[in-house]
Amino acid sequence: MILETPTALPTQTATLIHRPASFFEPLELDELFSAPQPLEVELGAGDGSFLANYAARHLDRNFLGVERLLGRLRKIDRKGLRGGLRNLRLIRVEASYLIQYLLPSESVAALHVYFPDPWPKRKHRKNRLVNAAFVELARAVLKPVGTVFLRTDDADYFTQMTEVFRASSAFSAIPTPPELAEVTTDFEREFQARGVPTLRVAYQRR
Ligand SMILES: C[S@@+](CC[C@H](N)C(=O)[O-])C[C@H]1O[C@@H](n2cnc3c(N)ncnc32)[C@H](O)[C@@H]1O
Repeated sequence: MILETPTALPTQTATLIHRPASFFEPLELDELFSAPQPLEVELGAGDGSFLANYAARHLDRNFLGVERLLGRLRKIDRKGLRGGLRNLRLIRVEASYLIQYLLPSESVAALHVYFPDPWPKRKHRKNRLVNAAFVELARAVLKPVGTVFLRTDDADYFTQMTEVFRASSAFSAIPTPPELAEVTTDFEREFQARGVPTLRVAYQRR
């Protein structure tokens, strides 16, 4: 396994981006992080402003940022390295592939899904990340009482999110903790600046 370990931070060559030796085996989380701590995963981390900020506030947790665009991943990498975040690792992979195949079962304390692509056209809604299949995948990777945190600006997508989680007996709705809600994402700040309302909800695994 190629592991550019964060214990070497900060150096010119260090990177927080993890390139798994195999995309067909679950990640070895013990090798990924220098300390065995609860794992939180952000799917579609964008420019990483939420992730870097939140990881810095919670050094007693490990964070994995997932993003399919390399340019954005590199931006998060630079933020994490600048902040000396030893509890942050990044991976470039499709989000649903990660939760289906790469995350070990019952390994995750929290999933953060903020402003996922809304696919507003009816014929494109099948591309949405958060659907009934996602709920089952989330149940499988979350530890008991693990939580999914969701935010969106798209009212129709919000309805879909709440319907699919409500239909599952594995989850109960809980309030988003204020200390989490106050850490905004890049897209969230843009919506706020334009006066676009945003919605949030959280579900805890029973
Ligand atoms: C609308 S942006 C939101 C970014 C960030 N969460 C925020 O709130 O600022 C959605 C992000 O998810 C990434 N993304 C979309 N679909 C993805 C997928 N299937 N797997 C991984 N990343 C994805 C996009 O590249 C983009 O950076």
